[in-house]
Amino acid sequence: MTISKKIETIMASASFIRKMFEEGARLKAEHGAENVFDFSLGNPNLPPPPQFDEVVNKLMQDDRGGMMHGYMPQPGYPFVRDKVAAGVSREQGVQISGSEVIMTCGAAGALNVILKALLDPGDEVLSPAPCFVEYKFYADNHGGLFKTVGTRADFTLDIDAMADAIGSKTKVVLINSPHNPTGQIYNKESLDALGELLERKSRELGRTLYLISDEPYRKIVYDDVRVPSIFNSYKESIVATSYSKDLSLPGERIGFVAINPNASYSKDLIEGMTLTNRILGFVNAPALMQRAIAELQEESVDISIYEQRRKVFCEILDEAGLEYVMPKGAFYLFPKAPVADDVEFCRLLLEEKILAVPGRDFGTPGHIRLAFSVNEQVISAAADGFKRAVAKAKRECD
Ligand SMILES: Cc1ncc(COP(=O)(O)O)c(C=O)c1O
Repeated sequence: MTISKKIETIMASASFIRKMFEEGARLKAEHGAENVFDFSLGNPNLPPPPQFDEVVNKLMQDDRGGMMHGYMPQPGYPFVRDKVAAGVSREQGVQISGSEVIMTCGAAGALNVILKALLDPGDEVLSPAPCFVEYKFYADNHGGLFKTVGTRADFTLDIDAMADAIGSKTKVVLINSPHNPTGQIYNKESLDALGELLERKSRELGRTLYLISDEPYRKIVYDDVRVPSIFNSYKESIVATSYSKDLSLPGERIGFVAINPNASYSKDLIEGMTLTNRILGFVNAPALMQRAIAELQEESVDISIYEQRRKVFCEILDEAGLEYVMPKGAFYLFPKAPVADDVEFCRLLLEEKILAVPGRDFGTPGHIRLAFSVNEQVISAAADGFKRAVAKAKRECD
């Protein structure tokens, strides 16, 4: 075979998100895009803030002696790392310096840079379920074994379950807050409890356990909720994030790693990740985007638009009789399917031209994920379809 067995297996078990994408394209071609209600993808549909265009236009006038697009030090331009560090210090309430920041190709690039630097073959990466579908591939990319750990009914951290799951092979606990697919945000108490657990387990196991927090939705929060910093809860911690969601720049591949300034081996971590950024083939984060985001640290898309969509969507789910945990951030809802089989419920929704992703893709069957990164009109127009699909599902159960 041309393709490796591993990649062939992954391709054969293509995720439902992928399948929904293809099904959506077919339905849109057949019925017209305006008649299909596609909630399957977390692709932000708001334009970047107007300041982004202004900054990029200004940068394009400045050719820097032809060096505008050249290589730079692998962790990024020093002045950009300083600006990002100042932003992180303000946002997370922990003073960090530019030398603790590495610019990356999005949050996905950041996570791969971190995991490659940390994992030896067979090391375990634990993550609360449900979780972002790509984590298992990222861990596997670097010889890691990915395992999910149960959460409470409202998808908050279950510290006892995490304590049971940590074993002699565990190296990393990977969390994501605000959370895809549930919109949950972990509060300070639960992060402190997780930090204490990791400290105790590190002592018992005689090895450093790392906490990675994946935070691309940090600025997309509702009801004035604040996202606590993991740096205050556990010192062996690393943040991976990007500007994909809060500046609506997912295609530009710009993000960063921030290392806890109090981490025991921060110098090794920085040097290791500088190397992995290079040898993974990223080399460095995109030059123009680094310069752009340096000037946009305080900006974000208009979060009130997502908040309004959340309100409209929740009303529709309430009317349809679907149960859900109110998302505190990000732009996803993760309602319970009215039948045990989430794939079957997605099929019933598809009959109404509504595209959703079964919860089993995220490691939690019995739920569906709905992304509200689509216009409010699309959400409103799907209301009757949701009611009909739930009614059909209930008839099937009887
Ligand atoms: C939880 C989570 N982590 C990471 C990513 C990847 O983000 P980026 O596009 O910045 O690589 C996503 C994208 O949807 C995500 O939802």
